[in-house]
Amino acid sequence: MCPGHGQGKSKMRVLFVTSEVAPLIKTGGLADVSAALPAALCRLGDDVRVLLPGYSQVLSQLPSCKVEATLSGIEGFPEARLLSSVLPDGVPLLVIDCAPLFQREGGIYQDAQGADWADNALRFGLLSKVAAILGGEASPLKWRPEVVHCNDWQSGLTPAYMHFSPKGAPCVMTVHNLAFQGVFPAAIRGTLGLPPESFQLHGVEFYGNLSFLKAGLYYANHITTVSPTYADEIQTEALGFGLQGLLQSRSDTLTGILNGIDEKEWNPATDAALAQTYTLKKMAGKSANKRDLQKQMGLQLAPETPLFGLVSRFTHQKGVDVVLEIAPRLLASGVQLVMLGSGDAEMQAAALLLAREYPGQLAIRIGFDEKLSHLIEAGADIFLMPSRFEPCGLNQMYSQRYGTPPVVHATGGLVDSVTDCDNDSLLRGDATGFVFHDMTASSLLDCAQRAVSCYQDKGKWSMLQSNGMAKDFSWLYSAAKYHEIYESLKNS
Ligand code: ADP
Ligand code: GLC
Repeated sequence: MCPGHGQGKSKMRVLFVTSEVAPLIKTGGLADVSAALPAALCRLGDDVRVLLPGYSQVLSQLPSCKVEATLSGIEGFPEARLLSSVLPDGVPLLVIDCAPLFQREGGIYQDAQGADWADNALRFGLLSKVAAILGGEASPLKWRPEVVHCNDWQSGLTPAYMHFSPKGAPCVMTVHNLAFQGVFPAAIRGTLGLPPESFQLHGVEFYGNLSFLKAGLYYANHITTVSPTYADEIQTEALGFGLQGLLQSRSDTLTGILNGIDEKEWNPATDAALAQTYTLKKMAGKSANKRDLQKQMGLQLAPETPLFGLVSRFTHQKGVDVVLEIAPRLLASGVQLVMLGSGDAEMQAAALLLAREYPGQLAIRIGFDEKLSHLIEAGADIFLMPSRFEPCGLNQMYSQRYGTPPVVHATGGLVDSVTDCDNDSLLRGDATGFVFHDMTASSLLDCAQRAVSCYQDKGKWSMLQSNGMAKDFSWLYSAAKYHEIYESLKNS
């Protein structure tokens, strides 16, 4: 039972379907949201269960799962078991144990060489299918959800399965990133057990292929995405990735809800990953983190030198290439830069090469390192997040909470969560970072330099830090909006 559930009347039973959840398995922001949003809904009184594939990394952390059901005879899929456990914050967890599909060495979407697993359609087809079973009349569980909440393409087929076996719960489909769609050859349709009539423009077909995400967007009862600005952007040709027409046609059932952050996990006052914790009133700890970060990353121990930080997937989306392009000019002004991330092999190589030219001034760590990501949020002075597009983005919010004003491109959730620093916003008391509008190297450089000059003005800088640290990034308000959508579906 959810923590908080039982204190008041249970409002909605929700099955929250996701391919990753922190801290068990994380490749990006979806994992953070899949941990924090269900917990926030539980605090509101909802009865939420999270459904997750049983990857090796997950099962090894859940030694005492209970077997809830055997899922045999699902046409096209290997036999599986449904296990139950609990997430660290008490939210109930359901895990699909299917060794042939989920237990293997490597990443959760890709092998060790970075190639997508060849059977991803089957792997996430099973996730989608099990969610549909649990949301329908044939569920082996007594607990029946009143709404099935799907997230990204990995659970995109759930609304399609549920459409073709009526009497199930309504579905909400949340888009965390429209760039990832789960598109597979048409021939997989039969194996996945979708009827031939689903394969059409008004269905799962997308330019001759089968698209998991389009299926979700077409068949879901309600669509949400992770910021109001991104909800508008995905209806345009520039950021619709070919799905803008469908999204426009569904605009009356499309809502942008800004993500919150997990305020327990990302709190400089209690963060165990830091060299020293700190608060708005006791900022000395922040300098200790800067020193620790400089030391750990082999940078010169220079307390007054502005230190830029970046934590990101190394992809075109995140604008890491533009950061590398401006790095020589930015570093020429004497600042320091630390970058943590992994992804595109060329970007990684270019970053490492550049770091050799700036020993003590530019430090690159390739890989995924949760602890270091927290230390960068705390130890850097300024955070860089020049994403070309950003559905929501979490690091710019973490940065504000850690007193590390972010430099961001005016897109998606970055626009919705960062207020540019100028005389007016400083006077109003809502300036929290630096926003640039043209996605060019020179605009990013100008903006970063604007941040450096503001950093030199200690009075202004501390106002900026205070505004960000005092800002409410909690999930409460956004979770309530999800709850309203669930209610509206129940009553429709
Ligand atoms: P996205 O999900 O598009 O990658 P978000 O800003 O929503 O972007 O979330 C990224 C999450 O992943 C944040 O929690 C961030 O700290 C984390 N992250 C990204 N890259 C790394 C890395 N190399 N090491 C540790 N954490 C990382
Ligand atoms: C995606 C998006 C990111 C968002 C995250 C969580 O990975 O790229 O902007 O913050 O999902 O919703």
